[in-house]
Amino acid sequence: MYHLECVNCGAVYPADEILYNCKICGHLLAVKYKMEDISISRGEWNCRPLSVWRYRELLPVNIPPVTLMEGGTPLYRLTRLGKEMGLSHLYAKHEGMNPSGSFKDRGMTVGVSMALQLGKKSVACASTGNTSASLAVYAAKAGIPAVVLLPAGKVAVGKVAQALMHGANVISIRGNFDRALEMVHDLCLTHGLYLLNSINPFRLEGQKTIGFEAVDQLGEIPDRFVLPVGNAGNISAVYKGFLEWQELGFMDQIPMMTGIQAEGSSPVVRAIRENLPEVIPETNPETIATAIRIGAPVNAEKALTAIRKTGGLAISVSDEEILSMQRDLARKEGIGVEPASAASVAGIRKLVEQGAIDRDERIVCVVTGHLLKDPDTVIKQCEPPKEINADLPSLLSALHL
Ligand code: F0G
Repeated sequence: MYHLECVNCGAVYPADEILYNCKICGHLLAVKYKMEDISISRGEWNCRPLSVWRYRELLPVNIPPVTLMEGGTPLYRLTRLGKEMGLSHLYAKHEGMNPSGSFKDRGMTVGVSMALQLGKKSVACASTGNTSASLAVYAAKAGIPAVVLLPAGKVAVGKVAQALMHGANVISIRGNFDRALEMVHDLCLTHGLYLLNSINPFRLEGQKTIGFEAVDQLGEIPDRFVLPVGNAGNISAVYKGFLEWQELGFMDQIPMMTGIQAEGSSPVVRAIRENLPEVIPETNPETIATAIRIGAPVNAEKALTAIRKTGGLAISVSDEEILSMQRDLARKEGIGVEPASAASVAGIRKLVEQGAIDRDERIVCVVTGHLLKDPDTVIKQCEPPKEINADLPSLLSALHL
């Protein structure tokens, strides 16, 4: 039904070979389905609940999946912010509403199911936080051990709390995410743990369903699809899914894939701006949006293709622009997201200000993780609660009544 294919040289490998890079050229692998064997219609899909598993014919799992009912996240119309920006069709897909509070659950339901399907007994990842939380959750559900490597002192507290509580073996390294990924990759190759970072081609299959759901919810194809970019797996995954729908005849045109990075951590944006053939890694990435504090995105090659082939854009936003949008989403739309997630909408605000996009476009921004993931950054932006004596006059005085 499917095989693995190198995204660079096209070398083909069997579906059950445990492999993260091409043996010939070292590039990443992607899952390739035999499209002629897929006979599902969108009508049939639409009879099923909105979830990752609605689209199971385009997923690699053929055992009962390890699932906590991920996906089916809300698509909100941003009426107030849209009006402020002069955009008539601005939407946010709130991936923070997944079981562990981020889009990673879409990848992990598929990735951990594949670990079992391939007979693996333990799983591992490096993470800026959300991947580790999600892996811990799905490993717990599957009943297998998980090892997670985090950059010490650079992971939001909610994510560490999740990884610990769900029982992962949590290791903090004195180094950044890029180094943690190299280390866990080596660990998996030498000790047989199943690697569930986004270099795993199966995990990204789950994430492509963000795009499918958004089109199904909108009832039409958006003009632009906007994602925060860290390791660049998610934007690549959504683009791959759209290409598959195009091949199946479900979509005639693919949205302009638009990637937003934080200023201090923006190698993909630089490669697009300077028209470089590949990204130049940044050795000391830094941003308040720790989820996307990544200097050497492993999926960059695929992300550059996605952005270039669809006529999309890439832009970076400052930490202040990110935080300002985090507050605006919370206070003007009732949508609570973590800083990295606010980057997608902050990027759109900046692109509108620069006159780079058409105000009539139908725009879907993916907001990737929940507000409660990073309470410290929230608290720092807000006035503390007023503490008063427990009597009515004190209350009225505190309320200036
Ligand atoms: N938004 C959030 C909240 C994330 O946690 C991440 C990535 C991204 C956006 C970027 O997605 O890497 O596919 O481009 N977090 C990873 C992690 C790296 O370890 O949790 P990407």
